[in-house]
Amino acid sequence: MATDRISPTAHYTSYVWVRAGLSPPELGTPRGRRYHAALAPFDALFGPRVGAGLEQQLLLRHRAIDAEVERAIAGGARQVLEVAAGLSGRAIRLGERHPEVRFVEADLPDMAAQKRRLLASLPGRRVPDVVDVDALATDGPLSLSAVAAAQFDTGAPIVVITEGLLSYLPWPAVQSIWRRVASLPFPVVDYLSDVHLGDEVGQFAAVRAFISGLSLFARGQVYLHHANLAEAVEMARGCGFASADAPDARLLVGEPTRGGARVRVLRCKTTATRD
Ligand SMILES: C[S@@+](CC[C@H](N)C(=O)[O-])C[C@H]1O[C@@H](n2cnc3c(N)ncnc32)[C@H](O)[C@@H]1O
Repeated sequence: MATDRISPTAHYTSYVWVRAGLSPPELGTPRGRRYHAALAPFDALFGPRVGAGLEQQLLLRHRAIDAEVERAIAGGARQVLEVAAGLSGRAIRLGERHPEVRFVEADLPDMAAQKRRLLASLPGRRVPDVVDVDALATDGPLSLSAVAAAQFDTGAPIVVITEGLLSYLPWPAVQSIWRRVASLPFPVVDYLSDVHLGDEVGQFAAVRAFISGLSLFARGQVYLHHANLAEAVEMARGCGFASADAPDARLLVGEPTRGGARVRVLRCKTTATRD
């Protein structure tokens, strides 16, 4: 399955991170600016109807995943692999804050090459290594297991992130990624991702309309894989994780929760307890 059709979405999210001061301006591309200008009117239209616009939700998801990476680092994690990292600035931001941690970003070869070029325009910054991966490859040098084993110490725990990838893939592809992440040969694998639930997101006509628009933008279907929270947790455990939960992102960043969650962070671990 070729999934490079998804790559343009990375320009949009990157522009959102830059606008919010979460990424260096050099990671904002002209393409990202154009996509942002094109989507902004729809976001302004649909956002107020569901309580928070796409941009706001993306920022919440990004900050909540940051908070969980910080938590893992505070708990001793020293290796972080961000799969489908796109043009995100997380590994620069957190890597500069935690020089003791090895951050590696991975993406499809074209996107990874583009990221390496952009990072080369940031002299003096501590930037992550960026490597080629195909999260859907079951074996070979681009597979998750080959990349993880080549880049990290397999004797120590690892944190693996996929942000903004899974909604663009059909369930069998997501399931195969989760299985491969859960079986990576590390003593502990801590896995973080955004996750979207049918009973929280799919109920809004405005959100369904927005998802249809996003499908056009991503040139392929956008999926809601889980009917509800219990199902998402059960599906993650069924893929080999010993523990899984998916808290409301607002809780993870210390914001008050009012109304149903729209953004959740899936937190899975290959050991039975999270801490
Ligand atoms: C919406 S972007 C998210 C980028 C980044 N995580 C962020 O939040 O800004 C989706 C990313 O998934 C990457 N991608 C698509 N298919 C992939 C695959 N099979 N393996 C690895 N990355 C993939 C795209 O190249 C793109 O960078």
